[in-house]
Amino acid sequence: MQIFVIANQKGGVGKTTTAMNLSAALAMTGLRVLAVDMDPQSNLSSGLGFTQQFDKHSWDTSNEAPYKNIYDVLIEDEPISSVFVTTSTKNLFLVPSHLSLAGAEIEMVNMLSRESLLKKALSKASDDFDCALIDCPPSLGLLTINALTAGDRILIPIQCEYFALEGIGQLIETTKLIKGINSKLSIGGVILTMYDSRTKLSENVVRDVKEFFKDTAFSTVVPRNVRLSEAPSYGKTIFEYDDKSTGALAYKKLAKEFIDKFKL
Ligand SMILES: Nc1ncnc2c1ncn2[C@@H]1O[C@H](COP(=O)(O)OP(=O)(O)OP(=O)(O)O)[C@@H](O)[C@H]1O
Ligand SMILES: [Mg+2]
Repeated sequence: MQIFVIANQKGGVGKTTTAMNLSAALAMTGLRVLAVDMDPQSNLSSGLGFTQQFDKHSWDTSNEAPYKNIYDVLIEDEPISSVFVTTSTKNLFLVPSHLSLAGAEIEMVNMLSRESLLKKALSKASDDFDCALIDCPPSLGLLTINALTAGDRILIPIQCEYFALEGIGQLIETTKLIKGINSKLSIGGVILTMYDSRTKLSENVVRDVKEFFKDTAFSTVVPRNVRLSEAPSYGKTIFEYDDKSTGALAYKKLAKEFIDKFKL
């Protein structure tokens, strides 16, 4: 199982949208894909339709999750095999998250091998899937560090906007540090998101990023497409919501490039 970590500590750059739709596009080619939600916000879990069934309780801020989730895997040593769920996309499975994960970083601090908890859990599931995609929260805390310690490659979504490269240096430095405990970790690629063909700015960001990252940048660029932002509120992937949209086409193309690049 190849493990890909979708990370960028900058918020709102398209990590979850990419985790959701790239996972789905890969699964649609027949690969068995595990999507892992490492963000307490749980946007990936709701986007894939999972937590929607519990949403009527979203005003309930008690810390009790009504379902097993990644918190139980990290803190309670629950096996991944008893936590992951099926999704409406064939071959796509989800390890859901829950708001209670927000407390996990603090609880982990005193745990032994606190940065390797996810790695240990995923190693037991490696025969069941072709690849795993981990969606990280917008920070470089212990949750992201767990994902990087477990991962083979980091994927960095970059929004075609002002300050696009802000924080990227820090992310690369963190990746170098993690290599001390996970030597196989490398930068798998940079994914340019929310490209707006009407602005000169988007064009400039693409040029700068491709100049800086060279071949590490995927040639597929994800356009700004309102359908991509609508789909998660229905708990649907872009392919279930609007298969003909420019967003759907882009994520299918990205999946193809991805499969070639990583020989999946
Ligand atoms: N290509 C796109 N076109 C239009 N809207 C998009 C696109 N990609 C993402 N969005 C929207 O932008 C917002 C941020 O995207 P997303 O949640 O994927 O980012 P994120 O990096 O996961 O954010 P966070 O750091 O909060 O976890 C969301 O409302 C999403 O629907
Ligand atoms: Mg997100």
